[in-house]
Amino acid sequence: MSFYKFPNDFWWGSASSAAQSEGASLAEGKAPTIWDHWFEQQPWRFFDGVGPADTSTFYQNYKSDIQLMKQLGHNSFRTSISWARLIPDGVGAVNPKAVEFYTNMIQELKNAGIEPFICLFHFDMPLVMQEKGGWENREVVDAYVEYTKTCFDLFGKDVRYWFTFNEPIVPVEQGYLYDAHYPNVVDFKRAVQVAYHTMLAHAKAVSAYHHSHEHGQIGIVLNLTPSYPRSSHPSDEKAARMADLLFNRSFLDPAVLGQYPQELVQLMADYNVAPKTEPGDSELLRLGKVDMLGVNYYQPRRVKARLNAINPDGPMLPEWFFEPYEMPVRKMNRYRGWEIYEKGVYDILLNLKENYGNIPCYISENGMGVEDEQRFIVNGQVQDDYRIEFIRNHLIWVNKAMTEGANCRGYHLWTFIDCWSWANAYKNRYGFVALDLKTQQRTIKKSGNWIAQVARDNGFDSGDN
Ligand code: BG6
Repeated sequence: MSFYKFPNDFWWGSASSAAQSEGASLAEGKAPTIWDHWFEQQPWRFFDGVGPADTSTFYQNYKSDIQLMKQLGHNSFRTSISWARLIPDGVGAVNPKAVEFYTNMIQELKNAGIEPFICLFHFDMPLVMQEKGGWENREVVDAYVEYTKTCFDLFGKDVRYWFTFNEPIVPVEQGYLYDAHYPNVVDFKRAVQVAYHTMLAHAKAVSAYHHSHEHGQIGIVLNLTPSYPRSSHPSDEKAARMADLLFNRSFLDPAVLGQYPQELVQLMADYNVAPKTEPGDSELLRLGKVDMLGVNYYQPRRVKARLNAINPDGPMLPEWFFEPYEMPVRKMNRYRGWEIYEKGVYDILLNLKENYGNIPCYISENGMGVEDEQRFIVNGQVQDDYRIEFIRNHLIWVNKAMTEGANCRGYHLWTFIDCWSWANAYKNRYGFVALDLKTQQRTIKKSGNWIAQVARDNGFDSGDN
């Protein structure tokens, strides 16, 4: 039996976000985000009609939740600060209650020996900022940078790991291409502008941090989705390259290399969707290179060359350049509709090693959402052996990449406790800890006991389950 050994200082933990866990959505001085607004407008878009006010009450229960994290063997935990809670008007005065909450929460983590990883924006645009045009408006970029500086000033002495954004492509694709998040726009050119301004905001925040708090590190969390062609036919390979360019390199290159890929710049120009820029932007992007990278990995993207002509009168979409491909006999998480392909995490890590200077990184999210987990309860505990298997199999590939030199520093599961998942609300459960929605009672799942052991041993052996 072999032992999969991880370094002694490997980060074991989980990730969450403010909007998905805090609760107290419109209380304690917090202003509405686009999620509060969208829920008010279109509650039917949310699974079972559960909205952002009903998240897992971390705001009230953070102390006991952090004790639970300790029981799970966490030495690190990522959550985010809510801009709308900290600065209700988007710019200007801070909300003292928010300062108190985040200060205490961060301190509580540190007292428990858990390193806080703090993300500054996790899909939760303050409504006042969206009313100004959101990321389409450069004023919002500057407001975000001011907000991040406030965070560095207020919490910088206790936080060593910062992240400017979580999955910045998600608001772009879901909000401006596929009508899945507010503001439900379908417009490629506007999507490109949103993506560009987000990266500008990121770069400015990185520079601001580097000017003020040299002792910590700042990065970004990207959902990297490796693109696999159906075959080695050149047209399928080209389709995969295009998907990679649009969905991965569009954020990875500016974040790590400080510039956009020339091929992407040319593509945007050819299709007349290039963003509005200002002199000096390239230099800003160059200064925005990250110290480290968070990698969220859930599923691969399989593509093939387009078989059907595009409708030139329809809206431009990324799928103009490829078609999704369903590989026969793929392993699926059918609750979420996502393919499970563990080797993808290895391919990402080796790509970072070979093409991105082996930047320090960690797996900042990976996980398996499962519906109706109550059916797996035995003696009061969810027996989520499928989740243990999912994590183990991914960790084996992470371990292999590390033995081949990948610079991976940790693994965080999505998520600590079953949480509210945007439009999916509580449909799929992801946590190490089960949440009873009615009583708010928390119960560690079998996977929670398992990860605690793995964290204690810094690894597991091949027969372990
Ligand atoms: C990630 C996000 O994309 O996936 C999380 O960072 C999200 O916020 C998680 O909850 C799971 O996705 P979903 O759509 O099943 O909630």
